[in-house]
Amino acid sequence: MDIHKAFHMKGGVGDNSYSKNSSLQKRVAERLKHITAWAIEEVFMSEKPKSLGMADLGCSSGPNALSNIKQVVEAVEKASRRMREAPPEFRVYLNDLHSNDFNTIFQGLPDLYRDLKRGGTNQPPLYIAACPGTFYGRLFPDHSLHFVYSSNSLHWLSTVPAGIYEKEGRSMNRKSIYISERSPPVVRKAYLEQFQHDFSLFLKSRSQELIRGGRMLLILLGRTLSDHAHCANSFLWELLYQSLAHLVAQGEIEEEKLESYDVHFYAPSKAELEDEVRKEGSFKTEMVEMVEMRDEDVSGSAVAKAVRSIQESMLAHHFGFGEPIFDKLFHHYALLIDREFAQRHVKSTTALLLLTKL
Ligand SMILES: C[S@@+](CC[C@H](N)C(=O)[O-])C[C@H]1O[C@@H](n2cnc3c(N)ncnc32)[C@H](O)[C@@H]1O
Repeated sequence: MDIHKAFHMKGGVGDNSYSKNSSLQKRVAERLKHITAWAIEEVFMSEKPKSLGMADLGCSSGPNALSNIKQVVEAVEKASRRMREAPPEFRVYLNDLHSNDFNTIFQGLPDLYRDLKRGGTNQPPLYIAACPGTFYGRLFPDHSLHFVYSSNSLHWLSTVPAGIYEKEGRSMNRKSIYISERSPPVVRKAYLEQFQHDFSLFLKSRSQELIRGGRMLLILLGRTLSDHAHCANSFLWELLYQSLAHLVAQGEIEEEKLESYDVHFYAPSKAELEDEVRKEGSFKTEMVEMVEMRDEDVSGSAVAKAVRSIQESMLAHHFGFGEPIFDKLFHHYALLIDREFAQRHVKSTTALLLLTKL
């Protein structure tokens, strides 16, 4: 399967869309927004560009893409007033895979322009463009960017690792859809190697596109434990596996279909991120943090809706599910999440990495 063609968040603005179910990702970006503002201000103050190029990689189709732009423009304007410098013009590139619903973002642009004007400033020129394609490869011309931002996207690998398949093409991870206690060691190794390959290609590509001194802020799901099976982000995949197994038990899907489903996801540790940055060699690490977050007020059904808006395209492609099965699957999934929340304090781990191009 070509993941880059099949994978997309649920577009539009309907009940099950990513637009309507991305508030958990928004909370992460909100909690770290002081670091985003600080990072972009630093670039502006050191480079004083007349035309500032920035990219949001894996922007998706929700309102989060527009809040990120607003935040960056406001932070730079504030810094320019403090420095008594004219603000730059902004070139903002919104990137995601080709199948992303960019139109839903474009429809929100008039509101963004109005909000920025309402801020009372002389709104500097803001040129926004979509740039479809995979971030595991080149997207922009040489040295054209000052700031690269990516939130909640880089934990997606370019593919399910080839190393998890036997010669005949059967998955060796038959009793899981991600790394779990039941996964053989070869599966963990294959996922790690895929992450190393992809992340190093990502760094190499961005190193050619950023100017020297340019910055990159990467926010993605990560893990604090060396063991994947017990880390907080894996429990969502484990419960999704259990919900799919429930459908097998009910005769809704064949066991073989479930045995061959694996996700193209990886939650790296701090050391795994640092190792790749060091090996690739084009960036200085300014900050690397693993931030643990627990949203007390989040319900199982809110989490289930968020995961549905993210996974629906892949599940539909593999299992051929229609709406009624999706409703059943995610209803069960929400119950399992609520049960887990009632039993233990689940925290998700977010990795934050701030890099400067050498
Ligand atoms: C969960 S959404 C995050 C969207 C937004 N940044 C936010 O924080 O709400 C992840 C996005 O990453 C995109 N994505 C995954 N792999 C990608 C790749 N290789 N290249 C570009 N975008 C990718 C997905 O299509 C999806 O829209």
